[in-house]
Amino acid sequence: MKIITLKNEALQSEKIAQDTAAFIRKNPGALLCLAAGDTPLEAYRQLIRLQAAGEVDLGSVYYVGLDEWEGIGRETSGSCMQVMFDGFYDPAGIPADRIVAWNGLNDDPEAEKKRIEDWIGLRGGIDFTLLGIGMNGHVGFNEPGTGLPEGCLRVKLDETTRRVSVKYFGRALPIEYGLSIGAGELKKAKKVFLIASGRHKAEIVMKTARMPASAEVPSSLMTDHPDITLYLDEAAAEQLG
Ligand code: F6R
Repeated sequence: MKIITLKNEALQSEKIAQDTAAFIRKNPGALLCLAAGDTPLEAYRQLIRLQAAGEVDLGSVYYVGLDEWEGIGRETSGSCMQVMFDGFYDPAGIPADRIVAWNGLNDDPEAEKKRIEDWIGLRGGIDFTLLGIGMNGHVGFNEPGTGLPEGCLRVKLDETTRRVSVKYFGRALPIEYGLSIGAGELKKAKKVFLIASGRHKAEIVMKTARMPASAEVPSSLMTDHPDITLYLDEAAAEQLG
């Protein structure tokens, strides 16, 4: 796994945006799967700036949502859908027919999983994925112990994930399950970016990059992908030695 460490989060985001733009330029028509969460938001703003400068056409590729909190929809601030549409898809002007995102309000999770799997199948698989590392090492909602499932899954959320969710919603919502693309499906992508920033991620980054791969640290299961890059700021890289 290639590791790129930048001095701070601003420089890290700039580099992630540049490298994502380079992939998009080379792969028109590709299917991208981009994480929500806080870590990539500045990189998404940078990508929109690159598009405004004429350096990339973000509407030249397709998108699939990575995950969603079950029972939560776009009208809830902090849902993955709200974060991605308000933070990226809408300001980037991506045409609606290029995006398929999870609907956390669908009361038939099996149908929802199939809808996402069908879109991935229609586009011939995910080509590129950008994944944030969670405090427990999850990628998407592939929680510790989930392994490398292909297709999509409904997961009982880990206690850490439920605790961390307060930062998105500003309060504790009674969420028990998540819907996600499986880590094994994500691992089939041609290119994988893993990202983490801040000192609070230093320990899980060390476990991801320096300890033997383990199902207890889902991000570590991605590290033997043939084209994976871990983007860090110096604070997140602190325990790498
Ligand atoms: C979001 C997602 C999550 C986050 C992860 C890191 O779509 O799938 O796995 O990427 O929890 O979240 P932040 O970036 O908020 O620390």
